[in-house]
Amino acid sequence: MDAHAAPAGTSRLVPPVPEPPEHDLSMLRFIAAIRTNGTAGWSKRAYEELVSRRSLLGRSNLMVSDPDGIRHVLVDNVPNYRRTPASVRVLRPMLGDGLLISEGQAWRRQRRVLAPAFTPRAVEVLVPHILSATNEAIARVAAAAEAGPVDLFDALQHLALEIAGRTMFSVDMRRHGERLRQMIAAYQTRLGRPHLPDLLLPLRWPAPHDIPRALFRRRWVRFLDEVIAAREAKGDTATSGDLLDLLVAARDSETGEGFTREQLRDQVATMIMAGHETTAVTLLWAAYLLALSPEWQDAVAEEAQEAGADLEMGWEDRLPLTRAVIDETLRLYPPAHIIVRMAQGPDVVAGQAIAAGDVVAISPWILHRHRRLWLDPAAFDPRRFLPGAPAIPRMAYLPFGVGPRICIGAQFALAEATLALAKLAGAFRMTIEGTRPVLPAAVVTTQPDHAPGFRLSRR
Ligand code: HEM
Repeated sequence: MDAHAAPAGTSRLVPPVPEPPEHDLSMLRFIAAIRTNGTAGWSKRAYEELVSRRSLLGRSNLMVSDPDGIRHVLVDNVPNYRRTPASVRVLRPMLGDGLLISEGQAWRRQRRVLAPAFTPRAVEVLVPHILSATNEAIARVAAAAEAGPVDLFDALQHLALEIAGRTMFSVDMRRHGERLRQMIAAYQTRLGRPHLPDLLLPLRWPAPHDIPRALFRRRWVRFLDEVIAAREAKGDTATSGDLLDLLVAARDSETGEGFTREQLRDQVATMIMAGHETTAVTLLWAAYLLALSPEWQDAVAEEAQEAGADLEMGWEDRLPLTRAVIDETLRLYPPAHIIVRMAQGPDVVAGQAIAAGDVVAISPWILHRHRRLWLDPAAFDPRRFLPGAPAIPRMAYLPFGVGPRICIGAQFALAEATLALAKLAGAFRMTIEGTRPVLPAAVVTTQPDHAPGFRLSRR
């Protein structure tokens, strides 16, 4: 098939999303809305204006979709914009002081140490692990599909976790995966959402949910120590060459110090958390979109079958349609739906005065559906990302963020999502059981509001 063309007979698909409010919500309704779905509080205005300001709990909040404003906050004036106390409060029990949460000198050091493990070359080495875990998952799903509709979301979450475990820590996650998923699910349901006091109180003051969060952290740390101990017990730590080895061997170029045991644990937690839920939801939404668009599904399946079973080398050139479907999925359902910062000092962003303590938000969800930045933004159209398509405006497409704090795992995630989707679509014809639309409900990541049943038949 011509890689530059849409599949023949493609009809326009607008996947279902909750209708944004017509007008700005009152403060309490806004907070209630974003607690159940982080994308649901913004009114239609946000999708039409490049900057909008509203006051929330006595703080000025600026939503920025203006390209120069985004560049200013995320690229040019990074030291002035730090993670908000509410994000730190909610994420720290899970991620400790790992790369995602840390700031300043501590962040720079961690990023320097970790970067070599995530270069395109380093990712290439991991492809065989991605493929073997995917093939095993497909065999399990095929067996389950004989009995009826399959909970593909659950299967994809386990797959992403298995891939994270194997590639980063040489640990088979089948032993730990179930407990890990239960802990994450329990945390996300209650403690992982910001409550009113989390938004109001400065970080040094305790908020009521900090107590159950601290209890969770104790259980979580015990669990992570078990995973790391299992890895160490394998006895091949010096030779496996995975991320954990790299972390253990890392020394600060200035002080010569290595990571402490606690720091090591926080990096493990950060990579597992940041790296598996995001990719699992990407794959779920991609499978959902393909189930709604049989033409694209057949095109991806055909491309995957033509590419053959051996995808270890040169797979990127052989899967342009699959990659375009992943890119379009990340546009319509960006797993990281919002990037939030708090200003440390006065500034001007997109012509708006900013004071210390103001919150600046850049929402990939809004940006990717913005009426001023995209043609037919609500429609699923992977052609936007095929080679030869018109260039995407700078700063209009930010599924992985931008600037020094851009996602360190982006290449890894794109490889994993593209390969796993190609394998999945190459193996099965996928349809959704029933007619209930699957709606995005963004909590920490942009999740589906329910796990749809997928009917899978062998191709
Ligand atoms: C489709 C999958 C993924 C998406 C959409 C995604 C998205 C993002 C975004 C938007 C950021 C920037 C946040 C900000 O500026 O505040 C980020 C940061 C980060 N991501 Fe990802 N990510 C994905 C997969 C991964 C994977 C696979 C890993 C690790 C293996 C990972 C690890 C991280 C880490 C550690 C950071 C913090 C980087 C820093 O602050 O220096 N992510 N991610």
